[in-house]
Amino acid sequence: MLTPNLRDLLSERFVLVDHELASAVVNGLSRPQKTLPCRFFYDARGSELFEEITRLPEYYPTRTEAAILEAHAADMAASIPDGGVLVEFGSGSSRKTETLLRHLPQLRAYIMIDVSESALLDAKERLATRFPSLDVRAIVADFSYPVALPVDLADGHRTGFFPGSTIGNLNPVEAQRLLRVFRGVLSPGSRLIVGVDLKKDLSILLPAYNDAAGVTAAFNLNLLARINREVAPAFDLDAFRHEAVYNARDGRIEMHLVSLADQDVTIGDQRFQFRKSETIHTENSYKYSVRQFQDLARAADWLPSRVWTDKDALFSVHELVCT
Ligand code: AVJ
Repeated sequence: MLTPNLRDLLSERFVLVDHELASAVVNGLSRPQKTLPCRFFYDARGSELFEEITRLPEYYPTRTEAAILEAHAADMAASIPDGGVLVEFGSGSSRKTETLLRHLPQLRAYIMIDVSESALLDAKERLATRFPSLDVRAIVADFSYPVALPVDLADGHRTGFFPGSTIGNLNPVEAQRLLRVFRGVLSPGSRLIVGVDLKKDLSILLPAYNDAAGVTAAFNLNLLARINREVAPAFDLDAFRHEAVYNARDGRIEMHLVSLADQDVTIGDQRFQFRKSETIHTENSYKYSVRQFQDLARAADWLPSRVWTDKDALFSVHELVCT
């Protein structure tokens, strides 16, 4: 009988691979248009690179949304009644939320939902010092699926918060489905504040995803580096380049990784063939007019209420009411 010894256990043969990532990679690369899911961008390095993207001069969404929230936080907070509960979907560091929380002394509790337990713990600690009397609850969960809120907060008026134009990663059908999931979590009478990137001139849009410093390119290519690290040393990073294009028909920025040559990529016993210029589609970032997003919300049984934008109409923050 072969029992692995310690040296065996520490050797590469026994290192656990992330099977969710591995199977998504094999599935995605098996399609006629090769794809990789954008949720895998955010490992430690990818999250760092995304933070860097948000500070780029060309990347307008983060700072524009922050300015809209700063300018209108008092208005947004005004429709949250005494004893209301704020529920954030994919709260991450909860930094944007502080702008709202400063105007919400009446809040009964702030519930943050995120897949990252460490992000939740960090945020909870920071909020405890900045808002000592606020009741902060953390739920480790994927917001794409219904979550049960704490029973002791069940009777409070609920306001959902979903900033960052994260909804733009989904196609309109998926976005509607997500709005319905939120509806189920928040229940009738509640509100949702959601950040949505706007359609705009390509002279502004394209540089936001093709920055001069190459940070977005590094962010995109990190997906291949991550697969090399966590699944198998499959990709030659010098044999792919970043590309971001606007697909006008579907109203979305598409990010791709373009193969620079005919090449084979091997993962375990599977071989994937690339022709020169063939791409892996890695992300969609949908852009909506105010009207388009309001129509989408109505189709998901939300009633559009107020909407705030910046003076250059780069970004929108919608208030929706649950009917
Ligand atoms: C986090 C989905 C809003 O679509 O603008 C930024 C992600 N990708 N640069 C976006 C992203 C490339 C971002 N979202």
